[in-house]
Amino acid sequence: SNGAKKTSLTLAFEAVQGSLTDAVVVPDGYVAQVLVPWGTPLNAGGSWQPDQHMTAERQAASVGMHHDGMDAFPLDADNASRRFILALNNEYIDQTALWAPQGGPTNAKRGRRPAEESRTEINAHGVTLVDVEKDANGHWSHVPGSRYNRRLTSATVIELAGPVAGSDYVKTRFSPAGTQTRGTNNNCGHGVTPWGTFITCEENWPNVFVNHGQRFQDDARIGIPTNKSRYGWDTSAGDVSEENGEFARFDITPRGERAEEDYRNEARTFGYQVEIDPYSDARAVKRTALGRFRHEGCWLGKLEAGQPVVFYSGHDARNEYVYKYVSDAAWDPADANRPGETYDRLSIGSKYMDNGTLYVARFHADGSGEWLPLTPSAETHDGRLLATALGLAEDDLAGVIISTCDAADLMGATPMDRPEWATVDPTSGEVYLTLTNNSKRSETSAAPTFTNKGDDVAQRGVGYETAPANAANPRANNGAGHVIRWRESRLPNAFRWEVFVFGAAANDADNHSGLTDMNQFASPDGLWFDQRDDGQGILWIQTDNSYEGIADYTNDQLLAVVPNSLDELQGAGPVINNSNQQQLKRFAVGPSGCEVTGIFATPDKTALFINIQHPGNWPADGSALTQDATAAASGQVRPRASTVVIQKRDGGQIGV
Ligand code: FEO
Ligand code: CA
Ligand code: CA
Ligand code: CA
Repeated sequence: SNGAKKTSLTLAFEAVQGSLTDAVVVPDGYVAQVLVPWGTPLNAGGSWQPDQHMTAERQAASVGMHHDGMDAFPLDADNASRRFILALNNEYIDQTALWAPQGGPTNAKRGRRPAEESRTEINAHGVTLVDVEKDANGHWSHVPGSRYNRRLTSATVIELAGPVAGSDYVKTRFSPAGTQTRGTNNNCGHGVTPWGTFITCEENWPNVFVNHGQRFQDDARIGIPTNKSRYGWDTSAGDVSEENGEFARFDITPRGERAEEDYRNEARTFGYQVEIDPYSDARAVKRTALGRFRHEGCWLGKLEAGQPVVFYSGHDARNEYVYKYVSDAAWDPADANRPGETYDRLSIGSKYMDNGTLYVARFHADGSGEWLPLTPSAETHDGRLLATALGLAEDDLAGVIISTCDAADLMGATPMDRPEWATVDPTSGEVYLTLTNNSKRSETSAAPTFTNKGDDVAQRGVGYETAPANAANPRANNGAGHVIRWRESRLPNAFRWEVFVFGAAANDADNHSGLTDMNQFASPDGLWFDQRDDGQGILWIQTDNSYEGIADYTNDQLLAVVPNSLDELQGAGPVINNSNQQQLKRFAVGPSGCEVTGIFATPDKTALFINIQHPGNWPADGSALTQDATAAASGQVRPRASTVVIQKRDGGQIGV
């Protein structure tokens, strides 16, 4: 017996073919509509026309650009499937679309950028909170002027909390006490806490900074540019009085005698999990205890009364790591969210997210794994105290967190194929994680071994430029990616893992999971375990792909599978278990140029929300606030990232 649960949940839709059009494709019997595309006015200061000249002021009062991770926060538990606050990340910007009426950005490549342009781009990043509701006809729209509509941008004042707050590492001219910063940036995946807050995750933030001078070790390890920043916001500093460092803060070159006189520490106030209470206008808080790196997301582990609260996060870069945070405080169900009520949720967040232990994962070839603590007193792979090995005082937890990536190198973590999203089956606690691809994964002549601490360990300050294949990342030059899953063991800091499915083109030699035209995919990214009845669920897999063989067959897509149980986990390297994929089916395809990301369903499972990020020529007329997402554009339109709501024509549950 393989111990698999008998599964009665069946995907009832007919899988869709690949598509290469400027439209969203959904199965027969389903409809899709556009909701809150970039630029949608939230409040009186916003406005939208297809030829809109976007301004900083308008953008601050409108939906941000490049929608990514998102979730729903109901105002009334009894009405949670009809109205809620939609919290969505605005990851980055498409300058061509943003500045289309003006023919492009000014001096974006070199020279000084106009302050108004930089300010507009800063305001297009961050997070959008928007009140949305469904009418009697099943049509979704936002509520203009709702008191819940709110933007956080790369300029919004945010508190620092946890071990790094108030330390010398984060003292800046703006906040000499090291307790605040401005902005959250490149917010990719997300998290939702049991106490009703949204976690926005800072991913590719290093590139908005530049350092022309002496770099800190952690600046080098995380990749702060030394030549120019991504958008050149720092070059606007001369345009206005820079008393407040509005733009100068993006140039972190040390200038003063002391850290409090310049912005050398500014980048050290980024790279965190950021907690937002969507029900209030309280200042957001960066929870530094959860580590500092390019956070893809923040996924809640299995929640049990009296047990710690756990969050998983991946560092999305080639050969970076998977992390787990475990709270000191035990979960008290009395702290659960009370939808729609206004109270101090962020103090509950402080209870669970400011004191705890951060771990990094090491995957062993035999299917076991261990969580390595990133604490000052932890023992490194070569037998030193971690704090000592990092050159820190022996109790300097803030220093360890600032140098999370270095610390993980020294502990001997397993370099992964770009960890993107994770998701947790809330009943079993099984964790799924996408490993999207890795062009810097080399062949290895022998079976990889991680049985002795010390072998194949990255050097401090370097990480792995290239890493040999290992059991959890078994394919050299992994273009198609894979999904792994694990379950925590009863033993402390231990887990068991297996590969769940390998991406591939159907005719690839390494199509290990037996994919066909109707479910071939590559570069898995977004992921969500959609719990249904009896503890079963649908695992939704989204793609962000440029893999030859798939990209010429279909645009990015959304697939669904009903996972089998992990009880049958074989525990021997990459288990290629086709029973995992028996029901893997393509559910939807996005428009050309986009990635498909950001996913949740209403509690009644009748509406599935996804995001279409960086489309090339979509939605159809580039202007309508709500329209048929399945209509293709005729001619070139001004593209707008957008949320898409997928529903059944008969109002039934999605997928079944
Ligand atoms: Fe923003 Fe790793 O995706
Ligand atoms: Ca992603
Ligand atoms: Ca991606
Ligand atoms: Ca993206």
